[in-house]
Amino acid sequence: MLKQLPPTSLEEVIRPIETARGLPNAHYISDAVFEEERDALLFRNWSGIGIAADVPEPGDVKPVNLAGMPLLVVRDHEGCVRVFQNTCRHRGMILVEKQDNLRGTIRCPYHSWCYNLDGSLRATPHVGGPGRNMDSSVKREEFSLFSVRSAVWRDVIFVNVSGDAPEFEDYAARLMHRWSEHNQPLYHGGTSSGFAFDVACNWKLAVENYCESYHLPWIHPGLNSYSRLEDHYHIEEPGYFAGQGTMVYRQIEGDRGERFPDFAGLSEFWNQGAEYIAMFPNVLFAAQRDHGYAIILMPQGAGRTIERNEIYYSFDPAERPDLKSLIDMNAKQWRSVLEEDLFVVEGMQKGRHGLHFDGGKFAPKMDGPTHTFHRWAAEQVEEHRQSLNGT
Ligand code: FES
Ligand SMILES: [Fe+2]
Repeated sequence: MLKQLPPTSLEEVIRPIETARGLPNAHYISDAVFEEERDALLFRNWSGIGIAADVPEPGDVKPVNLAGMPLLVVRDHEGCVRVFQNTCRHRGMILVEKQDNLRGTIRCPYHSWCYNLDGSLRATPHVGGPGRNMDSSVKREEFSLFSVRSAVWRDVIFVNVSGDAPEFEDYAARLMHRWSEHNQPLYHGGTSSGFAFDVACNWKLAVENYCESYHLPWIHPGLNSYSRLEDHYHIEEPGYFAGQGTMVYRQIEGDRGERFPDFAGLSEFWNQGAEYIAMFPNVLFAAQRDHGYAIILMPQGAGRTIERNEIYYSFDPAERPDLKSLIDMNAKQWRSVLEEDLFVVEGMQKGRHGLHFDGGKFAPKMDGPTHTFHRWAAEQVEEHRQSLNGT
C-alpha cells in the first residue's frame, strides 16, 4: 500500500522564474508522487517508448514497459508500427515477453488465444469445450487487443496511453516547424549507435539537465573547449519543449579527414548551429547538420531511469561501409559526453533526500529552459488533480 500523502504544493513552481521554486523533493523520491506523475505527465501526454528501428520487419514484436504499463510494439503486414496493451483479453496473461518475429500471430502462452498483427482476435481453441473453438458468448470481434494511440516521429515511437491527448501532429507541430528543414529520412547508425544507461535518478532530472547549457564548463570541459557557454542560447516553448542551442557546432572528422554527409538542403544556420531539445515529457532530441539523436527516458521508479540513446544519419550506413569506423567513433564520443552527465543527475537525486531542500533557486538568466519544464510538469499535475476532483 502506498502511503496516502496530501498533494504536494505546486503554486511556487508555477510563478515567474525570479520567484519560483523547483518541484518539491517528493516529485523525485516518493513512490506515490511517481504514480501521480505517471498518470499526469507520461500517460496523458505523448511519451516516447522506443524506436521504429526496434521492429524493422513485418511480424516483429517488442514488449515495452512504460512506467509499469505493459505495451507491445508490433510491425504489421502493411509495414506500420502499432502499439497494443500487452495483456491477453482472456485472463489477462502477459502476451509477449521477449522481442521476436511472430510471422503473423500473437499467441497467448496460457490458453492459446491468438491475435492477428492488427490486434483482432483470430482463434480461441477449445473455448466452447474440448474440440469446440467457438462459444456463442465469446464474440471474437469484441475482444481485440486494446490498441494504444501511437505515432512515429524522427523514428521515435510515441504513445498516448490515456487516449485523450491532442493529436500527436498538433502536439509536435511547434517542434516540427522549428526543425522543418530536418524533416527528412533518418537512418539509424546500427549496433554501436544504440546504447543505454541505467541511471539512479528520477527521469525528470535527466530532462532538466539536458535542457540547460549552464553546466557545460564544469561537466563537459572537452565540449566547452570549442563550444563555450557564451556560444549557447536558450530554447523555450512553454507547454511543449525546452532546450539549448549552440552557434559553434563542430563536425566530427575521421583519421583520413572523412566527415558525414549533411542532411540535404539545410540553410546556412546549420553550418555552425545545432540544437538540443527536450520534448516533454521524456524524449531528448538533437538536430545537427550531419547527424542527430534521440534519447528516450524510460522511468523505472521514482529513483531509477533507463536512458536509451540512438544516433541517426542522413545516409544508409549499409551503403557507406567506408564511414563505419567514423560511425563507431561518433557513438563512442557521444557515449563519453553523455556519461559525463550521469554523476550530476544521480547527484541531484541524492541531494533531493535532503529534507530541507526547498526545490532550489532558479538562476533567471541561466535556468529558463529548466523552469519551463518544471512549470509544465506542475501545471500538468494540477490539471490532472482538477480532472480527478471533477473541477
Ligand atoms: S489468458 Fe490468454 S488465452 Fe487465457
Ligand atoms: Fe550535459
